[in-house]
Amino acid sequence: MKHSVKDLLMAKDGLMKIEFAQEHMPVLMKIRERFTKEKPLKGLKIGACLHVTKETAVLMRTLRAGGAQVALCASNPLSTQDDVAAALASEGFEVHAIRGVDNTDYYKHLNAVLDTGPNITLDDGCDVISTIHSKRKELLKNVIGGQEETTTGVIRLRAMAKDGELKYPVIAVNDTPTKHMFDNYYGTGASTLDGIMRATNILMAGKTVVIAGYGYCGKGVALRASGMGAKVIVTEVEAVEGLRAHMDGFRVMKMRDAAKIGDIFITLTGCKDVITGAHYPEMKNGAIICNSGHFDVEIDVRGLRKTAKKYETVRPNLEKYTFANGKWLYLIGEGRLVNLAAAEGHSSEVMDLSFSDQALVSEYLAKNAKNLKAGVHEVPVEIDDWVAKLKLEALGAELDVLTQEQKKYLESWQEGT
Ligand code: NAI
Repeated sequence: MKHSVKDLLMAKDGLMKIEFAQEHMPVLMKIRERFTKEKPLKGLKIGACLHVTKETAVLMRTLRAGGAQVALCASNPLSTQDDVAAALASEGFEVHAIRGVDNTDYYKHLNAVLDTGPNITLDDGCDVISTIHSKRKELLKNVIGGQEETTTGVIRLRAMAKDGELKYPVIAVNDTPTKHMFDNYYGTGASTLDGIMRATNILMAGKTVVIAGYGYCGKGVALRASGMGAKVIVTEVEAVEGLRAHMDGFRVMKMRDAAKIGDIFITLTGCKDVITGAHYPEMKNGAIICNSGHFDVEIDVRGLRKTAKKYETVRPNLEKYTFANGKWLYLIGEGRLVNLAAAEGHSSEVMDLSFSDQALVSEYLAKNAKNLKAGVHEVPVEIDDWVAKLKLEALGAELDVLTQEQKKYLESWQEGT
């Protein structure tokens, strides 16, 4: 089996991490148990482009247990855990992922996965689907369906569908409640702050933290930052979300004004040019900037490099940019997803939900893709419900059950005042 990993000798560390992750992913392990018996993915090739973390490794093992041949590359140049990639390679997976690759190698790895001729694609950011549809069209005939894991990827897919360019059915895993209400909210909330702490070891209490974008991710980060004693400011472009931030107790203002008072800036918008050269001169000396949105377009890093007199790495994943006037700013993880560049991404517990969705959606595609039209589809509600129920069971929580009388009441219109 082919692979491109940093160093196979790192496999032992990676294997231990994967075992630890598995212990915290009970739902996915339950799915694996069934997949091992039923082999619902038998004969299928799956091409995955995901953050190469210990949790992703648990998903890869599960898909293989279901009978699939799996090939994996990274969905971000800085998110690969090299020991995990080595561990997967040592288990015979085709894996192409090395932390810190440049754009050329990033796409070389992605194309190596495409060379396996996948029947199902797993994307986190839509790079696989957009490459197949633009540069590798000959592969379209093999693909029965795909899945997309993140908000930005789903936005790209919907744009492709609108232009009539999406040629196979893709399930928007991101949009299902057991994904975005947990992964984006709790996962990003905790792991973004984890990334900032590991890179800087800074104290959150008393700091003014500016959060750009009050969607699922931004709300999660705001909740955790305020819980740690930070004074949170939110910047938004949507009225309802801005109002929500205000009612949640945060100050809402333009980035132009927030730039002057923030100690730490975190972008989570999925949009470009949120922090730019217009803001750097306004910022306090020593302010810390980072991004947790999918692509590294939210902060104008190129502009920062151009305008700074010098920049140097002062701690792992932390660059100091000094300007001609003697002032400086810090940037974490080169403006890439801070939780994956400077920490380990979401916890295994939360990825248990997202990756259980992915495993079950793979099975769903294996059975039903032929009946689905090209376009963006939702995760079937039964999958979402099943994953939530199993997670509750694993957590030892129990639900009440509606009586027949209650069901009737909820479905009727006759009973009122
Ligand atoms: P969302 O759509 O729920 O929220 C984004 C928010 O940003 C919206 O409320 C929007 O109005 C606001 N926004 C857009 N442009 C803006 C601008 N220029 N200035 C201020 N606000 C702006 O999306 P979600 O799910 O919160 O995802 C945000 C980003 O994070 C996406 O790129 C997504 O792919 C990524 N993501 C990152 C994760 C991670 O591990 N770091 C995990 C999940 C998603």
